[in-house]
Amino acid sequence: MNRLAGKVAIVTGGASGMGRATVMRFLADGAKVVVADLNETNGAETLAVAKANGHGDRVAFIRCDVAKEADMAATVALAESRFGTLDIAYLNAGVGGAFGPIAETSVEDWDYTFAVLTRSVFLGMKHASLAMKKHGPNGEKRGGVILVTASIAGMVGGGGSHAYSAAKAGVISLIENVAAELGPDRIRVVGIAPGVISTPLVHRGRPDKYEKQFSQQPWPDRGEPDVIADVASFLVSDEARFITGETVKVDGGLLAQGVALWGTGADNAFMKSAGVNRGTTGEAMVVRNLQQSEKK
Ligand SMILES: NC(=O)c1ccc[n+]([C@@H]2O[C@H](COP(=O)([O-])OP(=O)(O)OC[C@H]3O[C@@H](n4cnc5c(N)ncnc54)[C@H](O)[C@@H]3O)[C@@H](O)[C@H]2O)c1
Repeated sequence: MNRLAGKVAIVTGGASGMGRATVMRFLADGAKVVVADLNETNGAETLAVAKANGHGDRVAFIRCDVAKEADMAATVALAESRFGTLDIAYLNAGVGGAFGPIAETSVEDWDYTFAVLTRSVFLGMKHASLAMKKHGPNGEKRGGVILVTASIAGMVGGGGSHAYSAAKAGVISLIENVAAELGPDRIRVVGIAPGVISTPLVHRGRPDKYEKQFSQQPWPDRGEPDVIADVASFLVSDEARFITGETVKVDGGLLAQGVALWGTGADNAFMKSAGVNRGTTGEAMVVRNLQQSEKK
């Protein structure tokens, strides 16, 4: 599919995990891509994979610390100087950040977490929107799309460490608020909230060791990076032209499962019998034991 033909994108954190998968997807969809990442070794590897797939002339790498304003500005500038414009900014770079009990968390680790996960998104939105507000050759508003990797950890308790979850919640709020500001400029601002995705950030090179984390959601398949890349490609394309201010959960139903007070899956008490509970009306409750009828 060539749904991004002619578009110019930056992808932060594009050297690994879902960022790298999305770089490959954007390239396959016809875009030109600047990969921005702190890890130069993985950046070079990403470029080598892109070249091996025949996309060598449409991809560039820049060493960038997304927490630093000058680096984010340089990333946007590279897209403009190398490929002529900026249409898509995927602000995806991230780390696990500070973890542990609140009383054991240092200010330095807290600030690092917010710098990489939240300040980076503010900086990316600032510099990408400046580039996207420039007018096209005929004076028209060119606009663009800013896509952010949030997390389900920013939507509910228990999905990550205190600092990580709070930083991602901040990002979800930014997506909504900045979308309202930039809509008139034809700049969409959207987010993806992944559930558990099998990337080096989670499995640290040992995917086999984390089966428990990868199998928490109702959907039977493991969340591989391409499930994010596919949604990213749609959200930045013109097919999603009326979606803005929205953060889309891509979590295999993990949050739909909710607090799971009555168990999950086959262990959910509500799945073992069927009928109707008429409360304290004095009318009889009707119960069919599904497990007994199954045994017959
Ligand atoms: N994997 C999951 O289960 C999961 C779930 C929800 C959200 N996320 C988020 O998805 C995003 C991508 O993570 P991933 O799982 O693909 O991890 P990953 O570690 O495979 O990739 C993250 C990339 O970000 C880069 N990076 C980190 N700090 C940076 C900085 N300061 N400047 C520039 N680059 C930097 C890393 O070098 C790496 O290449 C992150 O924002 C993460 O918080 C991941």
